[in-house]
Amino acid sequence: MSRITVIGVGYVGLVTAVCLAELGHDVTAMDIDTAKIDGLKAGEVPIYEPGLTELIAKNRDRLSFTTDPVEAYASGEFIFVCVDTPPTYSGDADLSRIWSVIENLPPEDGERILIVKSTVPVGTGAAIKVTLAQRGYEHIRYCSNPEFLREGSAIHDFLHPDRVVVGADDAPTRDKVGALYEPLHAPIVKTSVPSAEMIKYASNAFLATKISFINEIANVCEQTGADVRTVAQGMGLDERIGPHFLQAGIGYGGSCFPKDVSALKQLAGNSGYHFQLLTAVIEVNELQKRRVIGKLKRLLGPELRGKHIALLGLAFKPNTDDVREASSIVLAGRLLAEGAHVVAHDPIAMEHIRGMLPSVILAADPYEALEEADAAVLVTEWPEYLELDWERARDLMAQPLVVDGRNSLDGEALARLGFVYEGVGTAAPEDVGTATPGGDDMNTSPSHRVVMD
Ligand code: UGA
Repeated sequence: MSRITVIGVGYVGLVTAVCLAELGHDVTAMDIDTAKIDGLKAGEVPIYEPGLTELIAKNRDRLSFTTDPVEAYASGEFIFVCVDTPPTYSGDADLSRIWSVIENLPPEDGERILIVKSTVPVGTGAAIKVTLAQRGYEHIRYCSNPEFLREGSAIHDFLHPDRVVVGADDAPTRDKVGALYEPLHAPIVKTSVPSAEMIKYASNAFLATKISFINEIANVCEQTGADVRTVAQGMGLDERIGPHFLQAGIGYGGSCFPKDVSALKQLAGNSGYHFQLLTAVIEVNELQKRRVIGKLKRLLGPELRGKHIALLGLAFKPNTDDVREASSIVLAGRLLAEGAHVVAHDPIAMEHIRGMLPSVILAADPYEALEEADAAVLVTEWPEYLELDWERARDLMAQPLVVDGRNSLDGEALARLGFVYEGVGTAAPEDVGTATPGGDDMNTSPSHRVVMD
């Protein structure tokens, strides 16, 4: 088992540290944020991620936290860099935290491998290697090891990856880093540093492209009477397309897709190439967040001033308290600009939105948000909203109107309760398909049954 240093205990760093400890390694995790480190030492976990608190407690003996670089670097051969690379105003990635780590690396005291997990533009590793060489840091080898975990299922994704990508110039470095992941029994892609860096950006950009593509199909479905859920299922059964990331909705958010798609677009632009497709992916996503406004105007009348709109969910997706780039922020902002009265609820993300949108009223529970509402908008498909007592909701609301921004509610059940239901690219109930008797229906709602021979 190895001794490992992890620099940066944000989302990726903390999950990496605890999962490497779970694999049996001795891990020291360092961050410059004293409050965060003090909290972790006291057992307080700064982010919401299912299973994380328990896994930290389980691996307490192999996991330590510090703000002291001397203590952190005393640990051993592998240094994982997991600091964040937030977007700048221009859309490029801000690499100042990465460079600060490079500035403060320990001088010659044995062989080290610097493993960068942070998402960095292609070419960053090459620039870091030049800097290390200029400083005479021959004892430090460089490795790009991008992370593919998702918030909300981060521990599962780390421990059960589809693949592990290890980019380094020399085979011994690739083999040593690859060996850390062997217990996971995943394919290990051993490649060059630039290719590893590009795999990360290209993967996120491709997934974002799938989402914008299906969102545009959904918008066309709304004009043509087709149902995007059936369309996505029918497409996804083609192995070359696959079923994932074809869930139409009100746009992607989070700390990764918006940032990485922009950064790849800028990276291409900086090297003289205009990445047209990504420009469209970004634009489609921005427009998708705003489409709910048009739907509300069609259903409630052109004047939203004074209308009470309930937003169910604020986080950019369920199982996280993260509201970065969440569709809820744009949607709430647009509604406020229209003069609507916005009341929102989220099971865990409300504190994070308070400062950003002070005019949004935060409700203690979903029913409170729905009281006297002219419309409810499902923004985040939290399980508790799917299991809501919608009969009670109907009785509380001023008008029984639901705009389902995630196509996650049972529109027909809601219609039976007297709701006007509007999904994203979903067909009206009369466009019901036919299921093969005894066939393997992929969905319970008859409006988007798939015929399976
Ligand atoms: C994403 C990638 O999925 C991870 O592989 C990657 O490691 C991570 O970014 C990162 O670069 O750090 P994450 O941002 O946690 O993970 O969330 P996703 O589950 O990918 O969802 C992103 C957004 O897309 C959410 O707003 C979600 O609602 C939306 N989405 C996702 C759709 O609108 N439709 C879909 O079919 C799938």
